[in-house]
Amino acid sequence: MPISYDHRRRRFLEALGGLAAIIPAAVPQRHHADVEFPFRQDSDFWYLTGCDEPGAVALLLPHCPETPFVLFVPAKDPLAEVWDGFRWGTEGAVRQFGADLAHPLDELESLLPGYLQGAEGICFRVGRHPHLEPLVLRLWADQLDRAPRRGGGADRLVAPCPLLHAMRLVKDPDELERLRLAAAISAAAHERVRAMVRPGLNEADVRAELDHHFLASGTRGFAYPSIVAGGDNACILHYTANNAPLRDGDLLLIDAGCSLDDHYNGDITRTFPVNGRFSGEQRALYDLVLAAQLAALAMVRPGGTAEEVHATAVRVLVEGLLELGLLAGSVDGVIEQGAYRHLYMHRTGHWLGLDVHDVGAYRLGEHPVALQPGMVLTVEPGLYVSDRLPVPDGQPAIEDRWKGIGIRIEDDVAVTDDGAEVLTAAALKQPEAMERSR
Ligand code: GLY
Ligand code: MN
Ligand code: MN
Repeated sequence: MPISYDHRRRRFLEALGGLAAIIPAAVPQRHHADVEFPFRQDSDFWYLTGCDEPGAVALLLPHCPETPFVLFVPAKDPLAEVWDGFRWGTEGAVRQFGADLAHPLDELESLLPGYLQGAEGICFRVGRHPHLEPLVLRLWADQLDRAPRRGGGADRLVAPCPLLHAMRLVKDPDELERLRLAAAISAAAHERVRAMVRPGLNEADVRAELDHHFLASGTRGFAYPSIVAGGDNACILHYTANNAPLRDGDLLLIDAGCSLDDHYNGDITRTFPVNGRFSGEQRALYDLVLAAQLAALAMVRPGGTAEEVHATAVRVLVEGLLELGLLAGSVDGVIEQGAYRHLYMHRTGHWLGLDVHDVGAYRLGEHPVALQPGMVLTVEPGLYVSDRLPVPDGQPAIEDRWKGIGIRIEDDVAVTDDGAEVLTAAALKQPEAMERSR
């Protein structure tokens, strides 16, 4: 089933009440000189429109029942299209994206005040769209100036995030289907590169193979710059240099996922020995991270919380690290003091969707958000043993034999009616599979 952007707009219009929403597309970003980064659409704009036009602006106007969805788009321009490619233009915006009305972008400033008439407020995200913000704030100021004489107007400025991101947090069956596909392509990439890895290759060879697999599978490419980290590089959480030789005896951590043409993402991490055989220390820590991950996965169910998932992973890791002599004290004491954080310093997961670190609250006030069917999250515990962080007072010094081991195991998981579906199960993680013929 194709995604129904119209259905989403209707839900959002209902949630807006009397507010007029201004939802901007992303604008091209400069890479250097006159070269731009590949264009990436704003996820909120995409969620409501499915439109990839840079610089466009969507208006969602519940107070205009005849024309609730208005798009401002770059006008057709043969010369600009010769240089930069096809534009839908205003007619295309109506035909292709279901806009009730469409205008050229350069009419936004003159037409926007008219569209605000009859609205009770403006729904716009301040701080994210610097090219548009001065115009919106000026219009809001005008509304405030006139309100006393008119007895009202669009005099409130409200952020769209709470409404829109609550919608984005819970995926519908069509979105889950897309996330399953993103997960399947990402998992296949992991299986493929594990089979090719051997000592003497370079991290860059693996990265190139991931890119190739993602693009040859018809996706937009990577969802985020792949992390291909041999040995101690795996202890750098956001390592993206990806240019070191893969050494006999090291582990290789690969954190990589693709982004589909409609921006649904995969996000998988696997860790395995470059030479096909774990050392004793590597295997002990691998088994521990896997045990933590499986225990955390078992906590993903309706009514559970991301907090519980994290707490479960931390507890299993701490118990195992105490047994291995990498921590000292009592389980509860170590957890309470955070005395494990030189070995495990990140959270155990995040929402996943159109953004890799997807939108949606984790807490509402004091209360962690309860998991419900349709939510999708990652479960990604790890251990990172290096000299970078000081060992906390009272904790044992780390013997050299453990150093340079960085392990993370990450799956993408959808909450179902009665538990969870691991979307990325096709990427193997049992230690025996990680050791297969190389
Ligand atoms: N790849 C980013 C993350 O795992 O959160
Ligand atoms: Mn992740
Ligand atoms: Mn990841």
